[in-house]
Amino acid sequence: MRMSLRLIVSLVMAVTFVSVAFAIYQVQADNRARRNELEKRAQVLAESLQETVQPLLAKGEQANLERIVERFGNRERLVGVAIYDLQGHPVLTTPNLATRVGQLPALDPEVLQGNGWDRFFSTSQGETYVYAVPVRGQAGVIGALAVFHDASYISAQNASMWRDTFTHILVQMLLIATITLLIVRASMERPISRMAQWLHDLRAGISPPNPDLPAEHVFKPLTREVTHLAASLRSARATAEEEARLREAADSLWTAERLRVYQQDALGDSRLFVVSNREPYEHVERGGNIEVLVPASGLVTAMEPILRACSGTWIAHGAGDADHQTVDSHDRLAVPPDEPQYTLRRVWLTEQEEERYYYGFSNEGLWPLCHIAHTRPIFRSEDWEAYREVNAKFAEAVLDEMSGVERPTVLVQDYHFALLPRLIKERRPDARVAIFWHIPWPNPEAFGICPWQSDLLEGLLGADLIGFHIQSHCTNFLETIDRTLESRIEWERFAVNRGGHFTLVRPFPISVEFKDDGDRDAPERPPLLKRLDLDFDYLGIGVDRLDYTKGIPERFRGIERFLEKYPTYQGRFSFVQIGAPSRTHIGRYQGLIAEVEAEAERINRRFQAKHWKPIVFLKRHHDHQEIEPCYRFADLCLVTSLHDGMNLVAKEFVASRADESGVLILSAFTGASRELEDALVVNPYDTDQLADSIWRALEMNPRERRDRMRQMRRIVKQHNIYRWAANLIGAASEIRLEMPKSATSQSESNRREQPARAVAL
Ligand code: G6P
Repeated sequence: MRMSLRLIVSLVMAVTFVSVAFAIYQVQADNRARRNELEKRAQVLAESLQETVQPLLAKGEQANLERIVERFGNRERLVGVAIYDLQGHPVLTTPNLATRVGQLPALDPEVLQGNGWDRFFSTSQGETYVYAVPVRGQAGVIGALAVFHDASYISAQNASMWRDTFTHILVQMLLIATITLLIVRASMERPISRMAQWLHDLRAGISPPNPDLPAEHVFKPLTREVTHLAASLRSARATAEEEARLREAADSLWTAERLRVYQQDALGDSRLFVVSNREPYEHVERGGNIEVLVPASGLVTAMEPILRACSGTWIAHGAGDADHQTVDSHDRLAVPPDEPQYTLRRVWLTEQEEERYYYGFSNEGLWPLCHIAHTRPIFRSEDWEAYREVNAKFAEAVLDEMSGVERPTVLVQDYHFALLPRLIKERRPDARVAIFWHIPWPNPEAFGICPWQSDLLEGLLGADLIGFHIQSHCTNFLETIDRTLESRIEWERFAVNRGGHFTLVRPFPISVEFKDDGDRDAPERPPLLKRLDLDFDYLGIGVDRLDYTKGIPERFRGIERFLEKYPTYQGRFSFVQIGAPSRTHIGRYQGLIAEVEAEAERINRRFQAKHWKPIVFLKRHHDHQEIEPCYRFADLCLVTSLHDGMNLVAKEFVASRADESGVLILSAFTGASRELEDALVVNPYDTDQLADSIWRALEMNPRERRDRMRQMRRIVKQHNIYRWAANLIGAASEIRLEMPKSATSQSESNRREQPARAVAL
């Protein structure tokens, strides 16, 4: 607007100036022309009268003179005529001349000397023009004749000309303003606002790729620049979006591929070695054939995708009855069997070793010691001895596998190998050693009942990094160290300094592999359930290793109470418990199986009808392919552990529910309950609460069910097993190893008693 105004004002001023200048010139020229014309007319008249007047004046014919003078009194613009004597005094005038012009002007003496004379003068009636000529007699000038003309019309015409000029100027101003505004609007404002709108849309990310930019010549440089700018903006935005997408993906989604790359970056050429008691693939003989079995183990569920992603070697106990037949001469085989991606090194244990180290110290001692599930730990010195020996045996196998490998990274798994970190570290100070404790760590008082607690802690502190599922297990561990060993604990960074060797203690909540391509449609009744020949409207599912820590009898009692409290569900709700027998050499486990069977039977007897029963107990090992459709078909999943490090069944159930339905009922005593807050969290000892939670899960409106499941899925998806591994490997890779001066990286020749100093950064 301001620009238009400036343009209008400038144009108006210029036009006005030209118009006024031209008008001045015109008025002056017209003025001059009219005066000249008047002068000429007056001259002609005076001279013609001069001839008429002359004889009359000479003869003194007063009456004739008067007639002539009177006759010229009424002509257009002629005001009158006057005759002067030789003294220059008017002797005869047209009547009313004096009234119209007032006092007659004095006659210029020049006239009486024989010359013409004229003059414009002002009167009360306006401007008057007088022209005088001498009147001659025989003896010379005898008087003078003057004609008086009204000259006021000249200034009137000048004034009218000025009026016209100003009217023109005004009209021109209006025209100029209007035309300028229209032109500015049409050829400036509109294209510019179009361009501005396009830039605005571009900024908002909605502009069309081919904008209607002004094509006028004047805009060409601007259009060119704006087009370049837009292209740069688009490309910058695309880059930023891509980066954001990658960052988002990077922040939220860990994949096997990403872990592989990350591991290569973090560990460089350091090779990965995983040690666990349970192997990922067991070969068993069935009906004369060798079959491959994936054991029911949270540890295996979690670690297997990592090894597939990162390769390396997994060292584990060869427990399958056909394992010997499937290894090479170095006790190795490439797995997974159908698509080999890493090496499995099997370690053989004698029956006695297995009995004492695995069943005895690990599962009758440490397992109940670490789980507060009211099963008393049993510590036998022969078991302890076997535990030490088997740890040493595994250490040898690990050292053997690592021979020739520079700066290896060793991830030791679980309570079976508390002594392994120190055994490895003493012999290979160049190795980064981490141990992940998959089960809870109890408080110092509870752990303190173990007769060999110091040896266990000493062994663990050989590691550079110790991982637990949750922070409270880390705290319990450091408090146990504090009470038991001479060491310096750095609480602010959760590290222990024992004899100059640093061990970091960190929580790493383990998870599952979350596949986002799951079937979203409601599944058909899975084959496993079809075979049951059971009528039900609602299905609950439980999947567990048959372990007393899993709270299976408590779960059954919760179901029983539910059917009591909410009898409309009798005949309509069934619960399928998939239970993989586990550690069955141990009396407590045999007792548990008997107890679970008895409880199921008792409750079924109480409620069952013709084609319906409340509890179906499937006591055998099921593989993931059988279980997953059941997870997807169920209305709810019950996880009622009395104490559990994490519990991956909870996460697997969530991961399988691509349909965003199904309710998870989850024990507050699992590590998973810290993350899966949208589960219905229960105290498995509280039978009524369990019953009410089942009812709430079945009655829950679909929207709430979806919201809860969606939120849990988001968490499991983001915190999947690859992220867990990346965090663990990342933390291990950040540990700077301080090698003893004389140490080189190679194995046997460098075996020494002195431990390496690991400095946690
Ligand atoms: C728990 C332990 C694992 C173990 C699994 C199965 O999850 O933390 O180390 O592998 O139970 O037990 P099992 O004794 O059959 O290996």
